[in-house]
Amino acid sequence: MNSSVADAASFLRNDELVAIPTETVYGLAGNALNAAVVLKIFEAKERPSFDPLIVHIPSKEAALLYAEDVPPVALKLMEAFWPGPLTLVLKKKDCIPDVVTSGLDTVGLRMPNHTMTLALLNNLDFPLAAPSANPFGYISPTTAQHVMDQLDSKIAMVLDGGACKVGVESTIVGFEDGETVIYRLGGLTPEDIRKVAGKVVIRINSSSDPKAPGMLKSHYAPSKPLHIADDLKQLIDANKESKLAVICFGDVVVDDKHAIYNLSPTGDFSEAASNLFAFLRTIDRREDIDVIVAAYLPETNLGFAINDRLERAAVK
Ligand code: TXA
Ligand code: MG
Repeated sequence: MNSSVADAASFLRNDELVAIPTETVYGLAGNALNAAVVLKIFEAKERPSFDPLIVHIPSKEAALLYAEDVPPVALKLMEAFWPGPLTLVLKKKDCIPDVVTSGLDTVGLRMPNHTMTLALLNNLDFPLAAPSANPFGYISPTTAQHVMDQLDSKIAMVLDGGACKVGVESTIVGFEDGETVIYRLGGLTPEDIRKVAGKVVIRINSSSDPKAPGMLKSHYAPSKPLHIADDLKQLIDANKESKLAVICFGDVVVDDKHAIYNLSPTGDFSEAASNLFAFLRTIDRREDIDVIVAAYLPETNLGFAINDRLERAAVK
């Protein structure tokens, strides 16, 4: 691990892959304008080619280098939330290779809110394509160590920028026939988007829909079975023969014979989001745990995004 932005820049200029910190999760980055480099990202992650990558840029102005016909509402959203956990799906310009977008004529652009990664992007004369830096389908990494645990041998360097503050991926927003559409729930709440964009439709896509092929039903999944329900007591009871880890939130009482992982005892949604993936990784490594049970969070604030991740992590 290394926290030198200059080293990261030099590897990236040499067409190598570097894991980068962002406020949401760590990304597995390479030169977005070089199709061969982008293919290496897909290989390192074992990611299916139909799942497009997000392109990371250093400024709002840079969006106009890679996207065209940008609607006014997209500009308002950039103004309000960039740098930050918002990806905008916009009509792509030809300079973005088709492998980045899996052949779609749109590109997902995002200006991340992390000092080191912004410095890095400002040092480069190309943007960075970066999916989350985890093997495809597994839990997203929120520390440099998480990345090292799984991708060490496949990348030149992890730029260590500490633990990710937000902890869930960016909210993805696109524009269709004058409508503002949320494709993925994430670090900005639907309410945040609504305040700036006005009417917003939430259309979380499944894998069969080419609009956002990445939204697979099963994703972010630990290797241990995870069950999720509103009624935690009933769920614990139904699994009482197993060695349980219990993921909960807020002021709840759980029998301490179980391993309890309270995402935020005080009911703070931001704290819960920043703990979620790290808790799942920790539990997944524990040999004394067989089954994970989790309670849905209240459907408000970041509760939407956290419940979405839990559902994708759960056994189907
Ligand atoms: O917070 C984040 O967004 C993190 C950090 C690293 O920036 N990145 C991330 O990337 O979550 P990834 O690859 O795990 O998820 C990217 C998703 C794709 O699976 C797809 O659903 C959506 O972004 N996406 C990318 N380009 C798109 C496009 N042109 N149209 C629709 N969806 C797109
Ligand atoms: Mg991902």
